[in-house]
Amino acid sequence: MKKILVTGGLGFIGSHTVVELQNKGFNVVIIDDLSNSDISVLNGITKITGKKPEFHQIDLKNKDAVQSFFKDQKIDGVIHFAASKAVGESVKQPLKYYENNIVTLIYLLQEMEKNKVTNFIFSSSCTVYGQAEELPITENAPIQPAESPYGNTKQIGEEIITDQTKVSNLNAIALRYFNPIGAHPTALIGELPLGVPQNLIPFVTQTAAGIRKELTVFGNDYNTHDGTAVRDYIHVVDLAKAHIVAMERLLFHKNKNNIEFFNIGTGKGSSVLDVIHAFEKANNLKLNYKFDKRRTGDITAAYADTTLANNELNWKSEFTLEDALKDAWKWQQKQTP
Ligand code: UD1
Repeated sequence: MKKILVTGGLGFIGSHTVVELQNKGFNVVIIDDLSNSDISVLNGITKITGKKPEFHQIDLKNKDAVQSFFKDQKIDGVIHFAASKAVGESVKQPLKYYENNIVTLIYLLQEMEKNKVTNFIFSSSCTVYGQAEELPITENAPIQPAESPYGNTKQIGEEIITDQTKVSNLNAIALRYFNPIGAHPTALIGELPLGVPQNLIPFVTQTAAGIRKELTVFGNDYNTHDGTAVRDYIHVVDLAKAHIVAMERLLFHKNKNNIEFFNIGTGKGSSVLDVIHAFEKANNLKLNYKFDKRRTGDITAAYADTTLANNELNWKSEFTLEDALKDAWKWQQKQTP
């Protein structure tokens, strides 16, 4: 069976992807530095799949460690999640983001080239489109100047990978995620935000759990159906599955270009108020919330045109928003002592 390296495999999307890889019979080796994840996630994965994945605690900034890791391994493909992802923090500490997200990508690609590992999946983001002029957003929408160093690392990352595919045997797919939410339906793995959550769903579930007093809705004067901002929220298990079909496309040489880009979303836009109401309905409870002004850097609306992923990857999302919000709440309840 093929062996897949998952960097950041104990993180939110990484851990769900490891589960889906193992369910499909792949051998998985995880690299994670535990900077924004917890070793207990390994047990969660093992409970779900019945198989403990191989794990190495390595910081990808440690070039020597990455080199010796590759020397000892026979890897067929790499799915690269390991990166810092807090937008606000990236504005305050840009160099941390360029080092964590760009320097590590370079080291990884260097070792892959040396060791003739040619299949690579990159975690990209719909943030590369900024506020797109046309909705839904296709892969042909122009890339806009990044709003933050975090967003910039995704753009630069895509460019570095593209350049490397031109001069090596590298075959790569960049998946541009819309807004990943939810948790595994078993509630054995999920999102573990550090401190006060910046993203909407963890803030919603922590408010429902009484950890936060109330949710602040950032802006109700947007040009949308109810004035609140619109996003495309995708269940993390659906998103994880997109990585498996993308990796299989590379392993079976079905890719049409050395570098390909796919939007991964549901295709459906939901406003913040839609999310609040769906959460209340799915879980039969009431949420405290108030309106405040817009958050700096936020766009009005983004949702995916997923035609390319539907046709080329034969993938589409299956879970509904309510499913995702139920799973997020189930997971949250397990976190509350
Ligand atoms: C954010 C990042 C994006 C990143 C993504 C990763 C910003 C500006 N963008 O996307 O680059 O790829 O996370 O998950 O940070 N909201 C509230 N109240 C809250 C929190 C959020 O009303 O307490 C609203 C936001 O204004 C937004 C929506 O909920 O309209 C979703 O916010 P969030 O979950 O942070 O995702 P994005 O901002 O879309």
